[in-house]
Amino acid sequence: MDIKYNLKSASERRTQPFKPDGDVGFGKLRTDHMFLMDYRDGQWCDARVVPYGPFEMAPGAMSLHYGQSIFEGAKAFMHDDGEIYTFRLNKNAERMNRSADIVCIPNIDEAMQVKAINALIDVDRLWFPQQEGACLYIRPFIFATEDRLSVSPSQKYTFCVMLSPSGAYYASGVNNGIRLLISTKYHRAVSGGTGASKAAGNYAASLRAGKAAAEYGASQVLYLDSTNTQIEEAGAMNHFHILKDGTVIIPKFTDTILKSITSQSILELGEMLGCEVRQETVMLDKFIADIESGEIIEAGGFGTAAVVSPVNSYIFEDGRIVTVGDGKVGPNIKRIYKLFTDLQKGYVAAPQGWVK
Ligand code: COI
Repeated sequence: MDIKYNLKSASERRTQPFKPDGDVGFGKLRTDHMFLMDYRDGQWCDARVVPYGPFEMAPGAMSLHYGQSIFEGAKAFMHDDGEIYTFRLNKNAERMNRSADIVCIPNIDEAMQVKAINALIDVDRLWFPQQEGACLYIRPFIFATEDRLSVSPSQKYTFCVMLSPSGAYYASGVNNGIRLLISTKYHRAVSGGTGASKAAGNYAASLRAGKAAAEYGASQVLYLDSTNTQIEEAGAMNHFHILKDGTVIIPKFTDTILKSITSQSILELGEMLGCEVRQETVMLDKFIADIESGEIIEAGGFGTAAVVSPVNSYIFEDGRIVTVGDGKVGPNIKRIYKLFTDLQKGYVAAPQGWVK
């Protein structure tokens, strides 16, 4: 499908490369344009790049009432040649369609999703934030627009891509590590539900748990399965831990865990990382006992926004704190973070097709 362009006038849009004064933060800024495409009469149509701005939407739009809305998160980086490169967009497009299947939204051809993102980046390339560790965060999303109140799949949707010049998701960054609340009270997903999708509602459901985490001085919740025996994920990132022999363990992907593209990449990198990476069912009791015995020496989260975020400690609802190792960011996490970000920034050759 061809893309139409209705761009801001030259005087309204950025004309010089973006060199931010202070930290750009995560997800706060927008670029000049967005990509839009609509679904009606059984097909996706009207692909266009237009100025970033509010949508006109009926108050009865079904996404507002029944939450039929999904999103993705991807990143683009500037390499030393001054060009902007995206990281594994095809995996995001594939996952968008998996989420779409879970909440009955029509799929979008993966190549079209990638084309849309590249077209938008091309128009707003001057917005790339020239700041250490920054990137263009890419947020594609789809929401139901049909004005109807029966609970059934909408017949109309909009696909939008917006860009956010961004820095680190966690202000504490890779140098400090975060604390997670192990919650037996709040759950993110149950088998047969929407946990494996990036459905907007999953994130709405995490807000209350996030508030509880903050009350405990934690950055996020580490979710358990509904029987409170297995470790699942942390909402904005998958969870992992590292054994004293350097092996990285990621909980097995199930229908209650979102398949992080960072986790998938780490699993695929294997040899390049210089350690074994495998997936297992992770039982909470054993996990805690292994931290206490020194069998587990590091832990953290993998996610597009979070990248590789170290976890320095866990807190339970009764106030008990379990510190991982000496509470400092360990050498394995530093090594994984460096290799992963070097691949994204083009300092190290990435596997074929990852960086485009
Ligand atoms: C991402 O990692 O891109 C995400 O979608 C997490 C987000 C909720 C901040």
